[in-house]
Amino acid sequence: MKKFSASRRSFLKQASTTGIATSVSALLGKSLFLPRGFAQAKTTAPANAASRVYIDSRRTIAPIDRNLFGSFLEQLGRAIYEGIYEPGSKFADENGFRKDVLGEIRQLGVPIIRYPGGNFVSGYNWLDGVGPKEKRPRTLDKAWDSLQSNQFGTNEFMVWCKAAGTTPLMGLNLGTGSSEEAAALVEYCNVEKGTKWSELRKQHGYADPWKVQNWCLGNEMDGWWQIGHMTAAEYGMKAADAARQMRYVDPNLKLIACGSSGPFMPTYLEWDREVLEQCYDYVDGLSLHRYFGNDQEETKGESSKFVAMNLSMDRQIAETLAVCDLVRGHKRSPKKLWLSFDEWNVWYRARSGDAVDGHKTEAPHLLEEVYNLEDALLVGGLINTLLRNADRVKLACLAQLVNVIAPLMTNADSVIRQTIYYPYAWALQSARGSVLSLLVESPTYDAAGLDPVPYVDVAGTFDAAQGKVSLYILNRDLSKAREVELVWEDKAPSTVVSSNVLTGDDLKAANTFAAPQKVAPQALAKPSTSGSRTKLEMPARSYAAIQWSI
Ligand code: AHR
Repeated sequence: MKKFSASRRSFLKQASTTGIATSVSALLGKSLFLPRGFAQAKTTAPANAASRVYIDSRRTIAPIDRNLFGSFLEQLGRAIYEGIYEPGSKFADENGFRKDVLGEIRQLGVPIIRYPGGNFVSGYNWLDGVGPKEKRPRTLDKAWDSLQSNQFGTNEFMVWCKAAGTTPLMGLNLGTGSSEEAAALVEYCNVEKGTKWSELRKQHGYADPWKVQNWCLGNEMDGWWQIGHMTAAEYGMKAADAARQMRYVDPNLKLIACGSSGPFMPTYLEWDREVLEQCYDYVDGLSLHRYFGNDQEETKGESSKFVAMNLSMDRQIAETLAVCDLVRGHKRSPKKLWLSFDEWNVWYRARSGDAVDGHKTEAPHLLEEVYNLEDALLVGGLINTLLRNADRVKLACLAQLVNVIAPLMTNADSVIRQTIYYPYAWALQSARGSVLSLLVESPTYDAAGLDPVPYVDVAGTFDAAQGKVSLYILNRDLSKAREVELVWEDKAPSTVVSSNVLTGDDLKAANTFAAPQKVAPQALAKPSTSGSRTKLEMPARSYAAIQWSI
């Protein structure tokens, strides 16, 4: 066990090291491509020229699936215990759910939440977490070397989802677990009555089925750190078998196969291809994961490079889609897969040593990353990337939601919002309708090892039903404000509904329990429109969300 923990920790270190080498030199190296919605400024344009965004509400990429803004709660650290569930807390309701945290999540409006893992799920026996609480075993979670009381299990999660106004994205154990056990969990959750597992659920006090639609067929099975890790061919066959058995139980499922854990993997894309050759016909989506860091290995601590890293997420999506469509061609399949970017975030500080080892204790403080302003800027950029790929990325999860690499942090007395909360909240609030296909012209800057990076990164949405246009603008210029001109090509907006920006002098500023508002949104001067043009000034180091009525 000790040995496993130690090697897992060294993997995490190595993963960030190798990932960095690959992501910087290969992904953000010589061939940085400009994603949809970018037109590179002419090289003759002066570096301080205004950026220009051409907007035409008739030109859209795709309707936004709300599941694009999902999140993730793993049985890890204090995400569940002391996070969303704390029976002894002064905030606990009759179910032991923290009402303050529930309130935050309801207010955010998170559409879908992945659970229970993550690495945890690959050694989890779901039967340990159902039935009378006093009879549930205390188990050792080998993935995070932590003790699991099993007081919060599948049914508690389903009840909590309803209270939080969200839906479950259930992870299945395809590590130590069998296809039969996966199908049994589907039967337990989704069959109304009259079968072994549905009757067990009823016996446990839940008369109605939960009708869970979305399921992940395992987690990061390409990673040698994963419990039950196997080859792509083995996993692809197992995923196909599990999917078949699960669909016999309930044909209405949406199933997601495990894609590569990230571009740092030596098997990147080859894993995806081999897996899909085995299970393409049985699944609906393929997963991607990615964590970014601003450290010596990945960016040499250069913030100007760090805030450009979302461009490599655009590339990861494009490459993974190419593989999906290659296999589609091989299979002559009419079906097009969608992508589930079901783990994405910044994560590099709380990633080794005691931050990833629970030392066989309950609810240890694991992966408690403290987020600063520059992290929030990149998270804004990552949201822009997800938006402009909304035609094929139909589901994504900010990893995670509470206490573990999370926008929300709890202690006994309160819940606070970390910096990354804000770009995520803005997307949830206002990114509705369809994603706009924008034409963006921006001067560029050089960052070591990168092709020219546009200073200004923009994504936008158009909600035809409500008559609203929203833009999400990242100014990567760390020292100067940038002028942005919007050119409305069909109709110009009438009024500004809201205009908020996240910025500040100190890229490393973070929120704490003592100073929870240190980095918080400010009002951005309402941009004024004259004819078909709007001018606005984006402060240095900023991410803004602006909404207009049109
Ligand atoms: O989100 C934290 C961990 O990161 C997950 O358990 C795992 O899937 C990934 O490596």
